[in-house]
Formats: sequence, C-alpha cells, structure tokens
Amino acid sequence: MTEASSEHRWREELNVAMSAFLKPYASGTCDGLYDPIHYLLGLGGKRIRPLLALATCEAEGESLAKAMPSALAVELFHNFTLMHDDIMDEAPLRRGRPTVHVKWDENAAILSGDVMYTLALTALAQTHASALPAVLDLFNATAREVCEGQQSDMAFERMEGVGESAYLDMIQNKTSVLLAASASMGALSAGVGKARSQAWYDYGLNVGLAFQIQDVLLDAFGESGQTGKQVGGDILCDKKTLIWLHTASSEHGEVLRQWLGIQPAQGSDQAAEKIRCVRDAMEAAGADVRAKELMRKHVDLAMDALGRLELPEDKQQWFAALAEHVTTRNH
Ligand code: IPE
Ligand code: IPE
Ligand code: MG
Ligand code: MG
Ligand code: MG
Repeated sequence: MTEASSEHRWREELNVAMSAFLKPYASGTCDGLYDPIHYLLGLGGKRIRPLLALATCEAEGESLAKAMPSALAVELFHNFTLMHDDIMDEAPLRRGRPTVHVKWDENAAILSGDVMYTLALTALAQTHASALPAVLDLFNATAREVCEGQQSDMAFERMEGVGESAYLDMIQNKTSVLLAASASMGALSAGVGKARSQAWYDYGLNVGLAFQIQDVLLDAFGESGQTGKQVGGDILCDKKTLIWLHTASSEHGEVLRQWLGIQPAQGSDQAAEKIRCVRDAMEAAGADVRAKELMRKHVDLAMDALGRLELPEDKQQWFAALAEHVTTRNH
C-alpha cells in the first residue's frame, strides 16, 4: 500500500472517529455551547497533529485504533487553542471563514474553547490503560507549555530587545511541542520505550519549528485565499516574529520602529498602509533568507531524529515528505 493511500485511510478513520466522539455534544444542544466546535472543526484544517499520532502508531507496528484517543485529543486541543488565539490576535478569518468570536462573540469563543479542552481530555482518557499514564503526562505538560508560549507571544508584542533565541523558545512552546507530543503520543500508544518516544518527539519538535517559521512567512507574504487567514495579521499586532526581528536589525529597521505601537482599525486604509510599509521593509531586508536557513536546519534535525528510529524505507517515506512539505506549504 502506498503512503498516499495510508494517509487517505488515516483521514477517513479520523473523521469517522471524530463524528462518533462528538455525537453526544450536538449542535443546538446546551443553548448552542457546542455550535462553534462543530463550525470550526467542520471547516477542516490540515489535521497534521492527529495524522502524526496515527502515523507514528502504525509505523511502530500497531493498529491506528490504539492512537485514536491521542489523535482526537490533539486535534480538539489544537482547535481550542485556535479559538482563543483568534481572540488574542484579533483575527477576523480562520480557514477562510469568520473566526468564532466574530461570528458569535468573545464569550462564546472563550466558553466553547474551554469545553473543547475538556473534550480533548475526555477523548484522551479512552487510551488503553498501559499507555495512559505516559500519554496523559505528556499531554498535560504540553498544554502548559503551549500556554507559556502564548503568554510570551503576547508579551513580546510590547517588549523591546526580543532576541532570536527568546523567539525560538517562544515558538517551540506555542506551536512545536504540540506536533512533538502528537508524534510521541502515537508512539507511546503503540507501547514504545523511552528512546523511541524521545526520537519521535525530536522529529515532531523540529517539524514543528519549521512549520511555525513557514506560518510566519505565509502571514506576511502568503495569499489569504490560500491560507484562509488575514494576511498581515502579525504585522498589525506588532508580533516579534523571526522576520520582524531580522528586519529590525537591518538598515530597514527604522520603518518598523515608526509603525510600532500604531494599531489601526481592522480593514482601515491605515491598516493596509502599515502592512504594505512593513512588508516592503521586510522584503528589502531579505528577511525570508534567515527564515529559510532556519527551516532547513530544523528539517535536517527532524531527518536526523527520523534516522535514529531506523524505520524501513517504506515506513519512513511519509515522515520525510511531511518534514519537507511544511517548508513549502502555501496554507
Ligand atoms: C495554525 O495551525 C496554528 C499554528 C500553530 C501556526 P495549522 O496551520 O495546523 O491550522 P489548521 O488546523 O491546518 O487550520
Ligand atoms: C498560534 O500561533 C499558536 C497557537 C494557537 C497555540 P499563531 O497565532 O501564529 O497561529 P495563526 O497564525 O493564528 O494560525
Ligand atoms: Mg497567536
Ligand atoms: Mg494567531
Ligand atoms: Mg501565525
């Protein structure tokens, strides 16, 4: 069976399991508490995290059913973080449609997000008993780290002197640890020991770092029609992204400093002007060059970790392709 058809099967089984899992929490019940969950999950998304959990479990020789609780948990948790992240980032669009706090309101996005987090734990609790303690520990540690990363991401908006190493720690926490945990939780569900679960973690962490660096490039230079998100959102919030930091330390840094702290209304002419000026400065500074270098470094580190697992070639292929894909994706 080819890897492409394996991925198709993982997606199908994930969709079936997600629908069955959500059945008791139907749209329209509980005064609409669950409606935003069905809305956001119904808009799709790439499903990278649950696919990673299912793929590692199968690569370790177990049926994907063993990793399905982890797969559901990481996708539910990821969507919870998006609902709250979009409030924090004042984002109008997600997956090509209005964000939950825009379509409903902030209270709905907070509470539906909260209940989605509890559902992630409910799903995870279905993990078979021998793997549950390790999987739950990793999941909880990861959830805490994501909050730490989000806190730094927000704090950096108003902070001067953020350096590249603080930036990398921040994205490792807000994004990469969840991809790392997804890969590792799938393998733990298959019953692997410490060394293999760590190698899967290291693979996922480096894929996750490259993934977030590409997210930053897409936020500034991508197409809204493809990303499904507002382009220039990071610029409007003064996010201290890798490309912002690189540009700030170049001869084009003055442009960024002129716009710092100016928060134009969404959709206004001034907002468009801020995005245009900052993006031009980033382009002139060649900010994508450092980003691409760093992505390459993390893809190489991901491949080293994959090598440590000594998988047969056919089992390794999907993971190698994913590591490359995150650096070229356009959505
Ligand atoms: C978006 O994640 C949030 C980040 C960590 C950058 P994805 O790009 O995986 O979002 P979906 O699930 O595919 O929409
Ligand atoms: C989001 O990072 C990370 C989490 C949701 C934890 P971003 O804020 O960069 O994600 P997008 O760009 O909105 O998807
Ligand atoms: Mg954010
Ligand atoms: Mg965001
Ligand atoms: Mg982003």
